[in-house]
Amino acid sequence: MSNNLLKGKRGIIFGALDPNSIAWKVAESCHAQGAEFVLTNAPIAMRMGTINQLAEKCGAQVIPADATSMEDLQNLFTKSMEILGGKLDFVLHSIGMSINVRKGNHYTELDYDMLHKGFDVSAVSFHKVLQTAYKMDAINEWGSVLALSYIAAQRAFPDYNDMADNKAYLESIARSYGYHYGKKSKVRVNTISQSPTMTTAGAGVKGFDGFVKYADVMSPLGNASAQECADYCVSLFSDLTKMVTMQNLFHDGGFSYTGISMEVMDMFTENGKKES
Ligand SMILES: NC(=O)c1ccc[n+]([C@@H]2O[C@H](COP(=O)([O-])OP(=O)(O)OC[C@H]3O[C@@H](n4cnc5c(N)ncnc54)[C@H](O)[C@@H]3O)[C@@H](O)[C@H]2O)c1
Repeated sequence: MSNNLLKGKRGIIFGALDPNSIAWKVAESCHAQGAEFVLTNAPIAMRMGTINQLAEKCGAQVIPADATSMEDLQNLFTKSMEILGGKLDFVLHSIGMSINVRKGNHYTELDYDMLHKGFDVSAVSFHKVLQTAYKMDAINEWGSVLALSYIAAQRAFPDYNDMADNKAYLESIARSYGYHYGKKSKVRVNTISQSPTMTTAGAGVKGFDGFVKYADVMSPLGNASAQECADYCVSLFSDLTKMVTMQNLFHDGGFSYTGISMEVMDMFTENGKKES
């Protein structure tokens, strides 16, 4: 259903790799709500993924950009404003990657070259995106910038590895840049802390299946899907949330504030053991 919540708004969406990607769903939802945008991803992802199908569906152009390269980002923002015919109203940063996770390196034995690369891609790139937009004055007043995070930034999830540290830094950038960008031109900056979701990046985490099931039974509403995350992003890009900035917003069916659920409790009680 469309309420044209984003009619007349222009944006850039980073990170749609395939139809499972959260950014893919965000692009579809923004399109349905009347937005116009440019899609972008790392040059290597252009070859791996199916972004062109999404672009066709949304009437969007694709501009490759490595989010760690200031040169690529400047080119991306310049061309996007040319294509869309003016300054932007929203940006989605939906980017994450850890080589240590991919290689299965234990947190107590991290490879620091890999750590630096993952940190640059997953966290510092958010600062680079913001700094590029800020210096170019590329975002309209009351514009909205979002990045996607995970609760391992606040609580220990052993197999989330160095991505937990990357997410903590990412959320801090939203607060710090949110202050400066709000003061300069009333631009909002937030992170959404999403439930575990079956995507290429998610499935890379060891034992991810278990993560997903555990979170689902611990959340009163169950896990939030990628489509529900896209709906939340639309609301945060819209004018209905103009005064929300510098926040880490949990979008997790209540997981973050649940101490224990009855389903989990039952696994440890005699009654629960008998019933199962
Ligand atoms: N899947 C989950 O369980 C989950 C939960 C919470 C938060 N998140 C976050 O959501 C975001 C999107 O991940 P996803 O789950 O949709 O997986 P995904 O694999 O579909 O998306 C990750 C994207 O990052 C892109 N990317 C990697 N390196 C890049 C670079 N140098 N420059 C530009 N783009 C680059 C990839 O090409 C890919 O499109 C990530 O920040 C992820 O950490 C995911």
